[in-house]
Amino acid sequence: MAPRALLQISNALRYNPAMAKNIIKQASVLREDIRRHDYAYYVLGKPVISDREYDKLFAELKAMEVEHPELVTPDSPTQRVGEQPIEGFEHVTHSIPMLSVDNTYDETQLREFDLRVAKGLGGESYRYVVEPKVDGVAVSLVYERGMLVLAATRGDGETGDDITHNVRTVPSVPLRLFGEDVPELLEVRGEVCWPWDAFRAFNAKREEAGEPTFANPRNATTGSLKQLDPRNVTGRGLQFVAHGLGRVEPLRARTQSELFASLKKWGIPTSPYSVEVDLIEEVIAKLEKWDRRRESLPYETDGLVIKIDALDQRDVLGATSRYPRWCIAYKFAAEQAETVLLDVELQVGKTGVITPVAKLDPVHLAGTTISNASLHNFDQIERLDVRVGDRVIIEKAGEIIPQVVGVVLQKRNKHARAIGPPLNCPSCGGKTSWEPIKPGHRAYHCTNKKCELYLNRRQRKNIPDRCRMITKNTDRGCDNSVQEVDHMVDLICTNPECQARVIEGIAHFASRDNMDIEGLGNVWTEKLVKERLLRSIADIYRLEIRYKEKLDQMPGLGAKSLDRLFQGIEESKKKPLARVLAGLRIGDIGLATAELLANEFGDMKSLSQASIARLMEIDGIGKELTERIVTYFQSEEGERTWKELSDRGVNMTQAKREVAADSPIAGKTVVVTGTLQSMDRKQIQDLIKQLGGKSAGSVSKKTDLVVYGESAGSKLDKARELGVEAIDEKEFLKRIGKS
Ligand code: IVH
Repeated sequence: MAPRALLQISNALRYNPAMAKNIIKQASVLREDIRRHDYAYYVLGKPVISDREYDKLFAELKAMEVEHPELVTPDSPTQRVGEQPIEGFEHVTHSIPMLSVDNTYDETQLREFDLRVAKGLGGESYRYVVEPKVDGVAVSLVYERGMLVLAATRGDGETGDDITHNVRTVPSVPLRLFGEDVPELLEVRGEVCWPWDAFRAFNAKREEAGEPTFANPRNATTGSLKQLDPRNVTGRGLQFVAHGLGRVEPLRARTQSELFASLKKWGIPTSPYSVEVDLIEEVIAKLEKWDRRRESLPYETDGLVIKIDALDQRDVLGATSRYPRWCIAYKFAAEQAETVLLDVELQVGKTGVITPVAKLDPVHLAGTTISNASLHNFDQIERLDVRVGDRVIIEKAGEIIPQVVGVVLQKRNKHARAIGPPLNCPSCGGKTSWEPIKPGHRAYHCTNKKCELYLNRRQRKNIPDRCRMITKNTDRGCDNSVQEVDHMVDLICTNPECQARVIEGIAHFASRDNMDIEGLGNVWTEKLVKERLLRSIADIYRLEIRYKEKLDQMPGLGAKSLDRLFQGIEESKKKPLARVLAGLRIGDIGLATAELLANEFGDMKSLSQASIARLMEIDGIGKELTERIVTYFQSEEGERTWKELSDRGVNMTQAKREVAADSPIAGKTVVVTGTLQSMDRKQIQDLIKQLGGKSAGSVSKKTDLVVYGESAGSKLDKARELGVEAIDEKEFLKRIGKS
């Protein structure tokens, strides 16, 4: 127990030091117990007590901390559930770039990789480790003196986002490491994934609540980690699996196998399926066995990763600009089945996009019975030349909804019916049209079947030679050539009053992440739209009057639920501007960007009048987004909607974060390192934000100031190396006028 905690003990206890000591001791013992049980459960997979007993211990600690809040330490197991949402994501520069891994699809390519390794190591002997390739989201965890101080996404490999608040809620990520020999600095890299069981349970709950379900665990994990509010992530059942290293000081392990043994000892979960092999032929001989085993693994995997075990040999082999030369991924082929395409259903979804969905004669595939499959879009239907009545090949590639990947032409029946894009919307009968290419732009798709841009299209000012596009947050596409096309891929219903469009738009506006109107989920929105009680988003705020006029014609909602609905609607009027912006999907933005805009403009009117130049000035708002925002406010529908909402009493403002005019750190990027005496990390981060500064997790050339406390380590060294100003806690307090 830190001496500081003793000093901060509450008044009541201060008069009785013996009792204080006792309570501190008890809390500390409880915490340690809980940590041990977490370790046994998440890392060793062998719980020693029942869930009930565990819950009891947890409740006991929680009760103690409620009674004596001064006892709470940041690494207490109770502190996983974040209390406060963050305002936006801070960028983090990785100490060593987070590269991705080159892919292979067959034995020949694996042998070629092995030959390159052998050559690179000049005749030295070597050994591989082989692990399942976890299909999750790559993250980096930084521990300083055993305490978790930062979790970041991969981003573009150089810079990612600080997602510490969400990763802290992942129960298998230790907040504090065990053991005596924990390195000063340990950066572990791995995947956050969503094990099937927990993922299915979560989807089932969403379905029950009438909310849309997630298509696959990986995308849903990405979405989870992008939440601003960590309370949304708690209890989802995400997991962490370590597979590599960033910076470690001092580094004692010589091989990955040694390293994994240490990580496990310190409490970090590694892959239990990692094996060591001497020859690539041993890997090749077992490919089929690994492939079969996939189904029984608790989380989704899409291949194997084969890596050199010895860390010094990894250094010898080095990396190209994108991939390390010491490792390779082998991607499994997706499982397939053959069945009959009974029909094609047209679904009208988000913003009026019409999507074809294959209705199949039910068939068994990779553990489930399939009766629906995705056809993606009309482009793909034409390319595959698939017709109703055909025998088709379906495949599961990480998606819950499988896809139609081919037609067995030899078995085509002469009555098979071709499917083209409909001229009219299947929901409202309105005219359909292809999503146009933006003025001044050209559209293309990739010619490589395996590339995601084969199914999709992209628009840019010029057609590139190759498909790959690398920007701050994306590294998408491949190195193949592209082909120009004359319209975008989506077929859209042009009628803004189309019921399907209206339903989706209202449900999005009312959803929990946006205006949070209880009772207005998909099911009820659909009913109310079909009864014509709701025809637009603005109608929500007229619903009570209309409903009362039409009351007896609309059975189904009890008086209590109705009250709750109307109350929810009334309360939503007070939501801050950012929620309205995200709810209206202005420029297709999410909440994080909406927060940025709301803070910048303060009210809807100013935002609606903002020029392109003004929007482009904002850090985090690019050109495309700017254009979409301006287009929204120039459109008749956009203007009418927000003005109607405003007329009906929906709040259109948001207080700017107060920044003292004389703040010495306004606009500056500040990094805090080491242990501070006067406050904890969260408090100082909040203070920095309040004073108009940005608090970042790692030191780079962009850092303006480093504030260091006791036993500051590598970050302080880095600041000195880069010539970034570094001041101690006392000096910082003086500058901001707090001492
Ligand atoms: S080793 C330099 N091992 O797959 C990167 N990566 O597609 C060395 N991945 O970026 C990575 N499971 O995020 C490694 N067992 C595993 C993995 C794994 C999943 C991810 C990793 C990597 C991506 C490449």
